[in-house]
Amino acid sequence: MKRIVILISGGGSNMQAIHKACVAEGWNARVEAVISNRPDAGGLDYARGQGLNAIVLDHKGFASREAFDAELMKAIDAHSPDLVVLAGFMRILTPAFTAHYAGRILNIHPSVLPAFTGLHTHARAIEMGCKFAGATVHFVTAELDHGAIVAQAQVPVLPDDDAHTLAARVLRQEHRMYPAAVRWFLEDQLEIRGLRVRHKAGESQSFS
Ligand code: GAR
Repeated sequence: MKRIVILISGGGSNMQAIHKACVAEGWNARVEAVISNRPDAGGLDYARGQGLNAIVLDHKGFASREAFDAELMKAIDAHSPDLVVLAGFMRILTPAFTAHYAGRILNIHPSVLPAFTGLHTHARAIEMGCKFAGATVHFVTAELDHGAIVAQAQVPVLPDDDAHTLAARVLRQEHRMYPAAVRWFLEDQLEIRGLRVRHKAGESQSFS
């Protein structure tokens, strides 16, 4: 049985989608823990309601990013995960942290990378007049939002969109794509060559 630890900071809808798919599709895997850096993260309620191990590690209690990440690593490693899943985890990670989980940590970012790394991706896509927006699941490296791409989703940007309507459209695709990407990893379906990630059995890695 593969072991998953999910990190969240907010509503946790991607965490829910992954947990629900894991249960409904009968993956040979378990969500061992959900860890939030914010005590008020909405996703904690879902995790507790499902009887999951819901852990709060408030970054505000730490003097430095390094000290927080060191404690976070301890909290994660207590569950011996095969995969660490960042699901709306809004922290910049230290090189020590990303090196420790290299090759076994995924993130979802709400843009079609390499466009729009960082924050406010939907507002920036609208501002730039983009006709498409989307999201990316990628391996996490020391460079923010730059690791090898596992899957991407694309949605149209409509003329009357604001950041909220566009985010909601993208999120619907995130909820399809992220569980699929996690399952592929756990089933050892991903072949990684440099920045290129190929699904061994040829499942489509693009969502729309
Ligand atoms: C998602 O849209 C995710 O792509 C984004 O935060 C949202 C979390 O929603 N992640 C980032 O911006 C990471 N830089 P959720 O808490 O409902 O899953």
